[in-house]
Amino acid sequence: MPGLKDQLWYPPVEFDYSTSPYGPPQEQILDLLGTLEPGASIADAAGGYGRYGERLARAGYKVTIFDIDPAHMEEARRRAAALPEGSGEMHVVEADLVAGDLSRFKGRFDALLCTGLLYLAPMHVLRGAFHQMAGLLRQGGLSVVEFATDRERYDADGNPLLGADEQRYTRRQGELIMRRLHAETGIVGTKLTGAEIDLRYPYRYHANLIFASGTKVGK
Ligand SMILES: C[S@@+](CC[C@H](N)C(=O)[O-])C[C@H]1O[C@@H](n2cnc3c(N)ncnc32)[C@H](O)[C@@H]1O
Repeated sequence: MPGLKDQLWYPPVEFDYSTSPYGPPQEQILDLLGTLEPGASIADAAGGYGRYGERLARAGYKVTIFDIDPAHMEEARRRAAALPEGSGEMHVVEADLVAGDLSRFKGRFDALLCTGLLYLAPMHVLRGAFHQMAGLLRQGGLSVVEFATDRERYDADGNPLLGADEQRYTRRQGELIMRRLHAETGIVGTKLTGAEIDLRYPYRYHANLIFASGTKVGK
């Protein structure tokens, strides 16, 4: 198990999961995935504690969370066990999306979801991670990725909390990166929408989110 330093994400605070530390799920993302057939399988790459996974499982989908952090995975498993009767499914798989090998899951999913991860990394790292994720999709599968841009994060005293090696992409860069990653992985019909996020707890966080979606046709 790699240590936290090997991850793309560094927790700046102790999380209280009941407060939804990354904000509520984005309705645009839920709407995009809501076009899937009932019971469709969704790979939630770096799905964390199940912020989206739980909602999607409650809506009847079969969600598999791939993540690396024990605390996030433990909370996701707790939520999976508490799903009400009649829900879909939520499974948790420990996986390193950067350095690991997900080839045994190749082509297995109707949809890919990735929120809160790629934009933290430099281009050569996020590129490899996205190629790995896109490989999870079957032909005709739907890809939905959140790419946060123009990010600002501060503690209560106004001190910047972005890690020294965290990336900070502009919206224009984020759009170009997502278009390029789609082209490289055979994802077509790219749609880019967006939303602004302004969280006040557990830290001050502001960003312009890009939601990139498309359909896998090749590679
Ligand atoms: C900001 S959280 C977002 C979680 C979730 N997608 C959401 O939106 O609520 C980033 C997640 O990426 C996971 N992560 C970081 N590096 C990873 C890696 N190399 N492989 C898999 N997951 C990773 C962390 O454990 C964490 O759950």
